[in-house]
Amino acid sequence: MTPARACAAAALVLLAAGCERAIKPGDPLRDLNRVERDRFAQGKVLFDSNFTPATGLGPLFNSTGCGECHEAPVKGGRGDEVEVHATAFRNAVCDPLVAEGGFVIQQHTTPALKQALGIDSEPFPPSATARARRTTPVVFGRGLLDAVPESVILAYADPDDKNHDGISGRPNRFTDGRIGRFGRKGFVPALDEFNAGAFSAEMGVTNPAVRTEETIGGKPIPAGVDPTADPEIDQGQLDLTNAFVRFLAVPTPLKLDRDGRRGRELFSQIGCVACHIPTLRTGDSPIAALRNKEFPAYTDLLLHDMGPDLADICLGLATPSEFRTEPLIDLRDAKAFLHDGRDTTLEQAVLSHGGEASGARDRFKALPPADRAALIAFLKSL
Ligand code: HEC
Ligand code: HEC
Repeated sequence: MTPARACAAAALVLLAAGCERAIKPGDPLRDLNRVERDRFAQGKVLFDSNFTPATGLGPLFNSTGCGECHEAPVKGGRGDEVEVHATAFRNAVCDPLVAEGGFVIQQHTTPALKQALGIDSEPFPPSATARARRTTPVVFGRGLLDAVPESVILAYADPDDKNHDGISGRPNRFTDGRIGRFGRKGFVPALDEFNAGAFSAEMGVTNPAVRTEETIGGKPIPAGVDPTADPEIDQGQLDLTNAFVRFLAVPTPLKLDRDGRRGRELFSQIGCVACHIPTLRTGDSPIAALRNKEFPAYTDLLLHDMGPDLADICLGLATPSEFRTEPLIDLRDAKAFLHDGRDTTLEQAVLSHGGEASGARDRFKALPPADRAALIAFLKSL
């Protein structure tokens, strides 16, 4: 029987659950209403549009559009752009270097800025104590992550390792004390805020949430270099882009064969699930498709000390060696792993875990080759 026929037959006996069409990378959430689906489609056009200096690009930028970076295998996916971030960590306090142009160091300038100052990237902040490379992650499922109640995240936290498992996750917090969850350092609390910040930091596009251009390494923009009136996009355009990102679903994990099922068990047995929590549940939401939904997340949204080899910058409360547990979403399409893309295979990525994840890494190392392969096969189903 073809799968479709099997499902049709099952539906007859009221066993339709589990026969729903698989969600592919880039698909919207199930259960969006018509208005929401329409906004998803309109937002996708904005996410995928390219800005020019005349429409607000720059004067400093990393790329011309969200979809230029988040592009593979579809819009909202990963990308090969690697950004440069920098902060200063002194006396256990993190300085995001706002006075020197902020922690994202833009790698391009518009022709007008280049002409005025003779620079083709933002100057590297002189006070920085560390530099970080950041690959472009998928944004699938981030609306679901945004809708997970803070109480759920806090329930997984164990800052003093009271259960003595060697794992002590803690939440990052924004400058105003709210729990952070977005970005590799989990610094930004809300998805809409991250998106508005991306318009500004990645494209130099001011918007109703970030109204002024970033400085050039702390110095004002020379007169005449950026004549476009601020904000360079309006609330409607920002809202639609937010809707697209918010409504991107998590792709349905691929069906597992026997090896894959064995790999899923091992993932749990050797303690990967201590940080990569397989399913999270959203709380209340004005959007029915995001309300009380369980979804495959494979993260606790908490910071973990990953050891000296992975360490780079601090951000908020996150020390140089602390990173948010990366959600394991759409790994089937990933070609480079970890925050800086240092590893090109899943096996290497697991072996690069250190710090709080050393125990799980060592148990992975100790597995017979067939079991390791099974665990990797499971990861590739995500
Ligand atoms: C120059 C490439 C680039 C552009 C352009 C870009 N991004 Fe990103 N995006 C990144 C990188 C790199 C990160 C990871 C940042 C980090 O780890 O701190 C990221 C992270 C994100 C995240 C957080 C994901 C997570 O796991 O927490 C969201 C949401 C996001 N981007 C949305 C957008 C939107 C919306 C736009 C357009 C307004 C955009 N991005 C433009 C490169 C880009
Ligand atoms: C102590 C918490 C912790 C444990 C335990 C843990 N991880 Fe991770 N994992 C992380 C963090 C944090 C990252 C992000 C690190 C980075 O980007 O440098 C990560 C990243 C990953 C990545 C890379 C994802 C990507 O998109 O680049 C994979 C794959 C992964 N973990 C698999 C595993 C497996 C398999 C195990 C069990 C052997 C495991 N992890 C155990 C915290 C943990």
